[in-house]
Amino acid sequence: METKLIDGKRISAEIKEEVKEEVKKLSGKGITPCLTVIQVGEDPASSVYVRNKRKACEYTGIRFVHEKLPKETDQETLLNRIRELNEDSSVHGILVQLPLPEHMDEQAVTRAISPAKDVDGFHPVNAGSLFLGEKGFVSCTPAGVLQLLKRSGIEIAGRECVVVGRSNIVGKPMAALLLAENGTVTVAHSRTQNLREVTKRADILVVAIGRPRFVDDTYIKEGAVVIDVGIHRGEDNKLCGDVDFEKAVLKCSAITPVPGGVGPMTVAMLLKNCVQAAGGEIDL
Ligand code: GUN
Repeated sequence: METKLIDGKRISAEIKEEVKEEVKKLSGKGITPCLTVIQVGEDPASSVYVRNKRKACEYTGIRFVHEKLPKETDQETLLNRIRELNEDSSVHGILVQLPLPEHMDEQAVTRAISPAKDVDGFHPVNAGSLFLGEKGFVSCTPAGVLQLLKRSGIEIAGRECVVVGRSNIVGKPMAALLLAENGTVTVAHSRTQNLREVTKRADILVVAIGRPRFVDDTYIKEGAVVIDVGIHRGEDNKLCGDVDFEKAVLKCSAITPVPGGVGPMTVAMLLKNCVQAAGGEIDL
C-alpha cells in the first residue's frame, strides 16, 4: 500500500492565500489587521519563530509589530504594556512569545491579554470555549493539525483518535478538537501504562510527547494516519520529529513529515486568527 505524505507546506500555502484574500477585503473596509508580538529577552529559538511570523504576516498584508523588552523587565511593566495594547483599537492580535524569563509567571501574563486579542488561544476563556464547543480562538498547532486532516480528506467522525501528550498548548486542545469532530478520543501521556496497546488502537494517531523518534512502527496499527507534532534537532544536525519516520512510514496509510508537516501550519493558523481578530470572515 502506498503511504500518503501529508504536505503541510502545500496546505499552509493554500491557507496563506485564503488569508491574503480576506486581508484584501478588510483593506477595502479601511481595516489593516495588526499583530503585536512581545518578546522578552533574546532566546535564539524565539527569535527564529518571531522572524517566521513576521515574514508570514508581511506576505499576507498583516501589519506586524515586534516589541522587544530586555530580559530583566519586571512583570508589572509587561502587564502594563499588555493592558495598553488591549485598549489600542489599531492592534487586533497580541502574542507574548514563550518561554518567558524565569522571574515571570506565564499564567498571569497569558491571562492579562484580552481574550478578544488572544490569537494564541492560550487564555482560559478561549481554552474553555473550545471545550464547550463555543466560538473562540483555538491554539494554532492543534488547529493546524485539524486542517491537515480535513484538507487531506481524512474522516474523523466515529474513528479512534489517540493523542499522545497532554500539554495545554497541544494535547488538550487537540483532544477537544477531535471530539468536536465526533472522533472517539483517548489522551495518552508519559504515565500511561501499556502505551503501545493504546496507540495501536488508533485510526488517527497524533504524537506530541517531545521525545525524538519515540514512536516507531511497533506503536502503530496497519493503515493508521500518523501526525507528528514534534520537532527536534538530532546529533546529525538534521530535524526529526517524535515519530521514527523511516519505520512508521512502512506501517501507516498517511503521515506528516518533519520538517514540512505540522510546523508550517502553526503560523498559517496564527494568520487566520489575526484576520478573525480584525473582524475578517474566514471560517476554516
Ligand atoms: N513559543 C513557541 N511557540 C509559541 C507559540 O505558538 N506561541 C507563543 N506565544 N510562544 C511560543
